[in-house]
Amino acid sequence: MAAITMKKIVKRYGDGFPAVNEVSLDVRDGEFMILVGPSGCGKSTLLRMIVGLEDITSGEMVIGDRVVNRVAPRERNLSMVFQNYALYPHLTVFENIAFPLRLAKTPDAEVKRRVNETAELLELTEHLERKPANLSGGQRQRVAMGRAIVRQADAFLFDEPLSNLDAKLRGQMRTEISRLQRRLGVTTVYVTHDQTEAMTLGDRVAVLRKGVLQQVGSPRELYEQPVNLFVAGFIGSPSMNFLPASVDGTTLETPLGRFEVRDERKAAALEGREVVLVGIRPEHFEDASLVSEEKKAHGSVVAAHVDVTEWLGNELYAYVPYEAPDDLAAQLRELSRELDGDQLRTQAVVALDASSPITPGRDAELWIDTSRIHIFDPSTGDNLTRDEEHVAELGRLGEEHREAKRDAQRHAERPAPEASTSEASTSEASAPEAPTEP
Ligand SMILES: Nc1ncnc2c1ncn2[C@@H]1O[C@H](COP(=O)(O)OP(=O)(O)OP(=O)(O)O)[C@@H](O)[C@H]1O
Ligand SMILES: [Mg+2]
Repeated sequence: MAAITMKKIVKRYGDGFPAVNEVSLDVRDGEFMILVGPSGCGKSTLLRMIVGLEDITSGEMVIGDRVVNRVAPRERNLSMVFQNYALYPHLTVFENIAFPLRLAKTPDAEVKRRVNETAELLELTEHLERKPANLSGGQRQRVAMGRAIVRQADAFLFDEPLSNLDAKLRGQMRTEISRLQRRLGVTTVYVTHDQTEAMTLGDRVAVLRKGVLQQVGSPRELYEQPVNLFVAGFIGSPSMNFLPASVDGTTLETPLGRFEVRDERKAAALEGREVVLVGIRPEHFEDASLVSEEKKAHGSVVAAHVDVTEWLGNELYAYVPYEAPDDLAAQLRELSRELDGDQLRTQAVVALDASSPITPGRDAELWIDTSRIHIFDPSTGDNLTRDEEHVAELGRLGEEHREAKRDAQRHAERPAPEASTSEASTSEASAPEAPTEP
């Protein structure tokens, strides 16, 4: 196992465009780090530079205590699972998993022992003699995973390994990966653009935008204390709403109505400003008719015209279109495009209690939990209401969480297959490039 330290990593492809731009990131020993960002932001490029499949233009890549910029992939002792994990169709599940060990000329008995242990961990034991074509998608995915973990790599790198699976299987595999990583305790970098994976799998999440690292933190920190509009809009589903607002003392005039900012720290962010963007998450709205008087007093009620509703059983989404000044509306559309969104109009999405009687086409009263709003500078996108104290607290909480996970792992039934001592052969196996069809 090893930590991975990236220092000002830059990648320029032939046309000079920096696909990855001065990324500095520490992945700690045993940590599960998630890399997220919209399509084309440089996630795969960064991963491929860690493994050594892509040259680093400048900066330093350190694995363990070794600078690996010039170290060949096969000498880095890392394991990678690709999005389109190709299995060898003519080999059995056993031989597919054994592949990296065979490459490393591992003795037969050792291969047998390790493959069997891995298969047990992944619940593939009864399928070992079958061919990949006869397996389900989830089973094939597990075989690919088995091939990655069968050798004792210093770190695992996953590039959207579950994107080929349907929603249900994704859910199952997600919990399996989580459990597996906890048991093996191996440093992991995992690329995804699935919100749920990003929020649930990792110890920390790193958000990339056009090759530039925006923020690294626990899922909770990114959700509650985003540094800017981009992170705020990217993390969370449905996305945070951004409403243009003109400032009048501590009152905000928004397209959904006027409301008061009571929180002193938030009010301070408004000082000296004429226009801001107010960020409100869908779940921080509620149907005012369902909110107690006591709770109501902690927020504000606005009148809104609901255009469309979607009842999902556990909650109800309501869409509230609004008019925004042209320049801000253009900026918001641009942001939405960048976030891979498809929002054509300026509209707020609110998530209400499923029992809400709100009907489309009617006016409704919506309660806003104004203690949870964020205020952004419209020109720089900076979050003006980030609370450093709370950030520090969330950091501590994240650490505790990680410790608890490690404890649980120590107390887990039995140690994972790593108990082996014969190490000589493993460093030779290369990070398996997706095998070509024979
Ligand atoms: N071989 C290449 N030559 C030139 N440009 C490339 C090459 N590979 C990637 N790029 C560019 O580098 C940028 C980052 O690409 P990368 O594949 O890392 O994105 P990504 O974040 O993994 O996206 P996705 O989520 O779609 O997989 C993109 O703008 C892409 O067009
Ligand atoms: Mg990619």
